Order: sequence, then C-alpha cells, then structure tokens
Amino acid sequence: MRETREAGEVRETGGTGATGEKEDKRQDVILSVKDLSTSFFLREGEVKAVDGVSFSIRKGECLALVGESGSGKTVTALSMLRLVVWPPGKIKSGQVALDGASIFDLPMKKMKSVRGKGMAMILQEPMSSLNPSQTIGRQIQEAVEINQGITGEAAKRKAIEMLGVVRIPSPEKRYYNYPHELSGGMKQRIMIAIALSCRPQLLIADEPTCSLDVTIQAQILRLMQQLRKDIDTTILFITSDLGIVAEMADRVAIMYAGQLIEICDVFTLFERPSHPYSKGIMGSIMAMKDGGRLNIIAGDPPDLMALPAGCKFHPRCEHCQEICRKEEPGYSDLLGDGSHWVRCHFPLNKAGAL
Ligand SMILES: Nc1ncnc2c1ncn2[C@@H]1O[C@H](COP(=O)(O)OP(=O)(O)OP(=O)(O)O)[C@@H](O)[C@H]1O
Ligand code: SF4
Ligand SMILES: [Mg+2]
Repeated sequence: MRETREAGEVRETGGTGATGEKEDKRQDVILSVKDLSTSFFLREGEVKAVDGVSFSIRKGECLALVGESGSGKTVTALSMLRLVVWPPGKIKSGQVALDGASIFDLPMKKMKSVRGKGMAMILQEPMSSLNPSQTIGRQIQEAVEINQGITGEAAKRKAIEMLGVVRIPSPEKRYYNYPHELSGGMKQRIMIAIALSCRPQLLIADEPTCSLDVTIQAQILRLMQQLRKDIDTTILFITSDLGIVAEMADRVAIMYAGQLIEICDVFTLFERPSHPYSKGIMGSIMAMKDGGRLNIIAGDPPDLMALPAGCKFHPRCEHCQEICRKEEPGYSDLLGDGSHWVRCHFPLNKAGAL
C-alpha cells in the first residue's frame, strides 16, 4: 500500500522491507522507529541516505547512533522530526512512534509541539541554531513559555535557573548576552538549556561537541551525564567518536551506508562485536590517534547513489564470501532475546571469530 503525505513524504505502509528490530514489546519503550527510508533525489540520481532503519529506545536510556561521516545519522534524526525538506529529500517509508503515538500520521501543524516537548534536538553546529539578534536568555525563556505553560517573570526566572543548570556563570547577567558574546562551549550549553527547557520526552544530541576543543568537549559531556542523572532524560546521542560512546551510552546502533548493521549494549560492542565492520572499528580504536574517530578502516564507504549489490560492506570486508556479493543480509537476533541484532550473513561468534 502507498500513502502520499505533505512535505514530500511518500511512505509505504504494510511493506516487507528490512525489519531490523522486531516489534519491541517492552513497556518502557519511548521511541520506536521502523523501516525508515529517506532519499535525496538529485539530477544525478537517488541518494539512499537512510535505508530500512529500525530501532527503539527505552525511557531513561541513552542510545548512541554511531557511523562514519555520511552514513546517515543526521538524516535519520531529521526524518524522525519530519524535517527533511522536499525537494530533494523524501521520507520514502517507515513509521516513527513516540510514546506509542505515530508521528508520521500527525498533521504537519501538530509537528511544532512534537519538536520540543516530544523530541528536542541539539544540532551539530550551535552557531547556526541560535538567533543572533535575540538575547540568549530570551531564547531560553521562549522555549519555557511555549513548552511549560508559564509566562512573564516566572518564565524569565525559569530561564535564569536553566542557565545555572547548564553551569553558565552569573546567570542573571548572562541572560542579557547575545550569542556572539559567548564562546563556542557556552553557546552549546545554551542549546542544551533550550532543549531541556522543552522538557522533551527524547533529547536528540547530534554530535553536540564536535566543533569544540577537547577540554570544553569533556565539560559538555560531563554536564550531559550529570543532567541524565538529575533529570532522567532519554537521549539519542549521535556521534562518530567511540570514546564518547563508551562514556555516555547504554546501547549502540551502528550505521553503515544508510543501514543499521548492529545494535547491542555498549559492553557487548566493545567486548565481542559481531559485524565485521563493528569489529574493524573496535579493533582499530587502540591505534587511533584522532580522538577515537572512525576513519581508519581500509577502503572507502560506498557511493550512496551507486550502492554495491548484496551486503553494502562487502567491498571492504575481509570475510566476504560469494553470497555476500549477491544477497543483502537480513537481521539476525543473535541471542534470541532481541538484545543483539546484526545484519551479516556470517556474524562473528561470541569469541569474535567466524
Ligand atoms: N540536502 C541534501 N541533499 C543531498 N544529499 C544530502 C542532503 N543531506 C544529506 N545528504 C546526503 O545524505 C547522506 C547522509 O548524510 P548525513 O548528514 O545523515 O550523514 P552523517 O552520518 O550525519 O554524517 P556526519 O558524521 O558527517 O554528520 C550523505 O551522503 C549526504 O551527502
Ligand atoms: S554479509 Fe558478508 S560481506 Fe557483509 S559483513 Fe557479513 S561477512 Fe562481510
Ligand atoms: Mg551528521
């Protein structure tokens, strides 16, 4: 069956695409993404940025979405928020449910309240997200007013309180600062304050520290960990830095060429990864000189406009066999309890060997 949506969304429903995580029946699932596919239709061809992605997040959990640059992490998050712009972007298929309510079935005008109270996103680049002509205090206050139903002095007091929560010194004075008067690290704290002021059910942090120097990066990560403890926030943490994954996440979903290729808890990923790509990135972590970035596996990621047949990773995989070149692997539930999914014809066994 095919449905046509506003904003360039054309979704297949009831299809039989890659399933990824099967129906997650756990009571505490806050977000579920099923079979999400998003493409960009350029003159040169279709860029399959997200291809049959499925995962879920439990309340209070931090799931890291990890992958090389261009693997589709940001487009996955933008699709969840229906922020993919047509032309050239189009959500081709999939379902996203937040606390059981289907996001893609909502009228577009209702999305404004989902983007904030439902899912708030901290973007990769804080500079472009803040309004340069409005004080940072006022910008936080607006988020408070829209999402917490308080106005005037009470909202202002709340905004100042939020500046304190994200450890901005002298919050009463800083309330009146404009974005250009703050450092990069402070601006990213303001973005976190705005996102938290929405009291979101899910906080999406898209590489929130990648433009910051190492010391500030560590401060922001510590702050987010503290906030997680204090406010019990559910987080989708997008990163290509495995050091950050180890520090922040409970579970990890690894993305390659628009697809999720492995989902498991952090300990399992570090101890016994099952996809050859995951094993490659974990093996290389010891040799990394670049702060843990995933950039030293031999070969290049595929061109998303001309993907290889069969397994997308096969041209780079040292375990590739005949079937890998022809047939795309489905997902295996390695332990039979839904805790460890891998998309490979020959998943590595627990000892890490084929
Ligand atoms: N507006 C667009 N038009 C055309 N292609 C796009 C557009 N936005 C994203 N893409 C393509 O979609 C693919 C996935 O992009 P995405 O931004 O999700 O990658 P990413 O995993 O977030 O990478 P990074 O780690 O560099 O942020 C890339 O090949 C990118 O070039
Ligand atoms: S399916 Fe084959 S080529 Fe792909 S990762 Fe598994 S072993 Fe390697
Ligand atoms: Mg990105």
